[in-house]
Amino acid sequence: MSLGVQGFVFLLAIVLLAICAQNSQARVTHENRVKSKVYLTPKIPQHPGSVSNKTYYNIEFPKGHIAIKSFNAEFVDEEGNPISLQETYLHHWAVVRYYQRKGNKEPKYNSNLGLHQSDLVVARNAGVCNGGLSQFFGLGSETRKTDTHVPDPYGIEVGNPLEAPAGYEEKWMLNVHAIDTRDAVDAMGCAECRCSLYNVTEDKDGQPFKPNYVGGFFCCYDGTQCKVKNGVKSVKRNIYMKYTVEWVDWSDSIVPVKIYIFDVTDSWQKTRIHDCLLEYDVEQCATGVATNDCISARRSHTSIPTSGDVVYGVAHLHNGGIGSVLYGEDGRVICSSRAIYGEGNEAGDEAGYMVGMTTCYPKPGSIKIAKDEVLTLESSYSSKKSHIGVTGFFYILVAES
Ligand SMILES: *[C@@H]1O[C@H](CO)[C@@H](O)[C@H](O)[C@H]1NC(C)=O
Ligand SMILES: *[C@@H]1O[C@H](CO)[C@@H](O)[C@H](O)[C@H]1NC(C)=O
Repeated sequence: MSLGVQGFVFLLAIVLLAICAQNSQARVTHENRVKSKVYLTPKIPQHPGSVSNKTYYNIEFPKGHIAIKSFNAEFVDEEGNPISLQETYLHHWAVVRYYQRKGNKEPKYNSNLGLHQSDLVVARNAGVCNGGLSQFFGLGSETRKTDTHVPDPYGIEVGNPLEAPAGYEEKWMLNVHAIDTRDAVDAMGCAECRCSLYNVTEDKDGQPFKPNYVGGFFCCYDGTQCKVKNGVKSVKRNIYMKYTVEWVDWSDSIVPVKIYIFDVTDSWQKTRIHDCLLEYDVEQCATGVATNDCISARRSHTSIPTSGDVVYGVAHLHNGGIGSVLYGEDGRVICSSRAIYGEGNEAGDEAGYMVGMTTCYPKPGSIKIAKDEVLTLESSYSSKKSHIGVTGFFYILVAES
């Protein structure tokens, strides 16, 4: 059967129409669909007892005007297998947004580079600490079992070209602090950065330690060495931080959320300045105290400059942490986040290590924070043993009303 030229053209038109319809349909679903991508940092060389704390600039990150829906991370080896915290302790990782002056050379990753160069401006979260805790995302050993997804219809808006200052472009940096504890004399001590286990007599800037400083991040900076058992053969290896980002393209149907990070060492109530010390120590409880009562709680007060609905909440604690609660001015619980400890040997369930934190996903609209409302943050640690250099951060996402 011959179609003739007209018939052929007609058929072609129908086929083209069908393709177009399919394409636009595909585009619509594509736009609403959550996209996901897995990235790796440059390799992190390790040997037993080694410490790496590097900041990687201009990391791979989803492009365009988007809403982030989740951010997950873990250490993997050269084959991509997850690495146990018992071998490499993930002290912390933090993802910070910055604006880089266009046409300027990229800073090379290094641990000492200050962030206050004029070609590089940190585009921090909504607050509240002065200076520190400017990250958008960041966790530590609890990464594998901590939910980070942002529920619909909310999203963390990034890549809006109208927000970058003229002549600058948005980029992302990632700080990763890894402590190799293979063959360590005291793996937990290395993870807590006890100074006596490290080959240090001054901090990374050559400053002497404060009197009675027994441990914390000043003792385990990039390139330091934690004590390993005598006579063991040092096995070098490369690891990577693998990070997985989920996002959707920006659209008007997404409700943007602001990121606030509170610190239990914030002295704001006294000083009206959000001076955050970032770390503190937990003393061992007094002899004679019943073991069950050996809990050390610390409190601070804070507030946010706008009102809104809490969409998500999670605490960041170190080993020994029990949980953390954020209260409203009237005493209501805004979010309570508890530590999850591992019980086995596989990555994600390492016995004795904090492997996760529970999170809060309030029913939309059910938990509100008022502008300037005085919030109370309480972090609890077990004080059966002393703990050094612990943290009490609380991360919330707020949809402004
Ligand atoms: C790790 O590097 C970051 C970014 O340079 C820095 O702020 C932090 O104090 C360092 N931590 C340690 C333990 O040196
Ligand atoms: C500690 O040991 C490491 C590895 O042996 C070495 O590279 C580093 O320079 C030492 N650091 C100090 C502060 O002694």
